Amino acid sequence: MHDFELYNPTRIVFGQGSIARLADLVPAEARVLILYGGGSAERNGTLAEVEAALGRHHVQRFGGIEPNPTYETLMQAVELIRHEKLDFLLAVGGGSVIDGTKFVAAAVDYPGDPWHILETRGKEITRALPIGTVLTLPATGSEANCAAVVTRKSLQAKLGFGHPLLYPRFSLLDPVKTYTLPPRQIANGVVDAFVHVTEQYLTQPAQAAVQDRYAEALLLTLIETGPQALARPEDYDVRANLMWAATQALHGVVGAGVPQDWATHVIGHELTALYGLDHAQTLAIVHPNLLLERRDVKRAKLLQYAERVWGLRAGSDDERIELAIASTRAFFESLGVKTRLADYGIGAEAVERVVAQLEAHGMVRLGEDRAVDLAMSRRIVEACL
Ligand code: NZQ
Ligand code: ZN
Repeated sequence: MHDFELYNPTRIVFGQGSIARLADLVPAEARVLILYGGGSAERNGTLAEVEAALGRHHVQRFGGIEPNPTYETLMQAVELIRHEKLDFLLAVGGGSVIDGTKFVAAAVDYPGDPWHILETRGKEITRALPIGTVLTLPATGSEANCAAVVTRKSLQAKLGFGHPLLYPRFSLLDPVKTYTLPPRQIANGVVDAFVHVTEQYLTQPAQAAVQDRYAEALLLTLIETGPQALARPEDYDVRANLMWAATQALHGVVGAGVPQDWATHVIGHELTALYGLDHAQTLAIVHPNLLLERRDVKRAKLLQYAERVWGLRAGSDDERIELAIASTRAFFESLGVKTRLADYGIGAEAVERVVAQLEAHGMVRLGEDRAVDLAMSRRIVEACL
């Protein structure tokens, strides 16, 4: 196992009714901005519950943060905060609202144009407003990590950044708040969490027994609870297990001291920037093909995955690896997430466009061994057609 340092200061309050805890988790003197998305939190009563819990605080609202949050929209929140002298940000929503809130938190006092935060991946952040979150969509793990992804529409660029100052102070996880999710978003969340685990697990052996078993536990839980959540949307225990699995997939422990890949995510972000696909749709398309392209360097872990996650023991090594990758694709499809570019009406012209974007963003040495160059990315995207 490689040396590592693990730091995660986010306080998780998990369970039905946890929104009531806002009253004591948000400092009494705070001037609060609630940030939310396109209206689901308003329609299903979550926003009203949040405001009731914050009864005596000074509270203002900023709505309209879109899926794959944009710099253009977020800068409006930055202006509002500067003008109204607000000093505590409360994100109510899914990964997009939470990521957008992280950007806003870092942008308010950032010297110069805050797009620089994306250009430098957050390295030069020195201050950020405090953040709390109320999670409504289990998927990204953003509620308990310090990363975020923001899109600049005018540049068709979707880039990630992170900084330890951006860990939420607290995150409230009430599984009941996920009951209103449409099937597409439930499925997206399962796929996203699944691929977060495999990006940190399907690499090379690192003699990290705990991280391996932890990853396998999360994958098995997602394989079990994903279909259950679609079939029984108001089953509390199913939703609770799904929510907790998604949070743990990307809060640090699975990836501590082990190689990490993330090439599927980087290629996927370009597909979202170019074609507007949901984040998880891009992962479902790219990941099986990335695993096939990289099956030799990932061989030992793919065999372990085949046996421990999919229960495959018969056949040759190559057959088990291919079946494990096919099972992964079939799992995504069974949730209703299509795994071919053609399923989304995207044709062969995508190959050149994605490769050009990767090059423009300097994404030319991806993967746990930095061996995924542009030629390899091209082969992977070609296989996605
Ligand atoms: O906007 P509203 O009206 O609220 O509707 C949202 C949105 O349309 C809806 N929704 C959320 N909670 C709901 C609900 N509808 C009904 N009931 C509820 N309880 O769901 C739609 C999608 O929301 P979004 O926040 O976009 O989804 P998700 O959580 O999947 O976030 C995706 C974003 O996170 C980034 C992705 O790139 C993408 O931009 N990621 C962030 C990561 C991180 N910070 O660590 C890692 C991930 O790999 C990912 O890249
Ligand atoms: Zn993801």
